[in-house]
Amino acid sequence: MASSTIVSVMLLVSTLLAVALAGNMDQGFDITWGDGRGKMLNNGDLLTLSLDKASGSGFQSKNEYLFGKIDMQLKLVPGNSAGTVTAYYLSSKGSNWDEIDFEFLGNLSGDPYILHTNVFSQGKGNREQQFYLWFDPTADFHTYSILWNPQRIIFSVDGTPIREFKNSESIGVPFPKNQAMRMYSSLWNADDWATRGGLVKTDWSKAPFTASYRNFKADACVWSSGKSSCPSSSTSSTSSSTSSSSWFSQQLDNTAQERLRWVQRNYMIYNYCADLKRFPQGLPPECRTS
Ligand SMILES: *[C@@H]1O[C@H](CO)[C@@H](O)[C@H](O)[C@H]1NC(C)=O
Repeated sequence: MASSTIVSVMLLVSTLLAVALAGNMDQGFDITWGDGRGKMLNNGDLLTLSLDKASGSGFQSKNEYLFGKIDMQLKLVPGNSAGTVTAYYLSSKGSNWDEIDFEFLGNLSGDPYILHTNVFSQGKGNREQQFYLWFDPTADFHTYSILWNPQRIIFSVDGTPIREFKNSESIGVPFPKNQAMRMYSSLWNADDWATRGGLVKTDWSKAPFTASYRNFKADACVWSSGKSSCPSSSTSSTSSSTSSSSWFSQQLDNTAQERLRWVQRNYMIYNYCADLKRFPQGLPPECRTS
């Protein structure tokens, strides 16, 4: 008797929790363009974007952040997705903007997506790294994360780091740390460049193309009216950081560094830091340190 009561109380609690967690996409985002092509489904738990010949679609976070750990689960456009680009990024505003990018370049059925990454600081990007993935990103949801703290930016896929961009201000490279950023996502047609440099065109007979999003998590400092939601003590990395803000001083431990090297050895297909042809005057300074 007693144990069945405990079980039913636990069921009730977990139901309440599930209800409390529902509507997560709905609470975090506004669909901003696409004239009905972006949709909130399952009580706001699932967000889908679609693209057809007339338009793509997109959404943005209600909040702006200045540092954080952002996780999102995405399931990309299946089948023949050549020419489509699903972008998921953080960006500030203005001509000296900062930006941290994930972009997924579609492909013909059975051919691999390219995961394209970039980091802009004060309006300057040109820091592309591209990867293949070690799974089919259209078959299931996978978690794509951006860890952004004052020392580094770490891009991860299902918890595996794929790229680290370190703060190299000491050698004169601006680092995104003074401008709050919003999260944006969009699904759009880029068949003038995306698939094999624009050679493969979008097959509109397969439209509409749809990408899905769920389980957004922002362990982050929300920026609002010129103030951060994080205690100012968290800006000194030596402060007794609570477990909830450990991301603020997080770095890659040995295991994570090994994982990163595994990805870079086996799945990285482009690295601006290795592109001597592109930078005949010498590689960008941050390339010499990381
Ligand atoms: C598409 O597949 C081809 C052939 O495997 C590959 O070379 C290319 O990198 C893939 N991705 C894109 C976006 O073109």
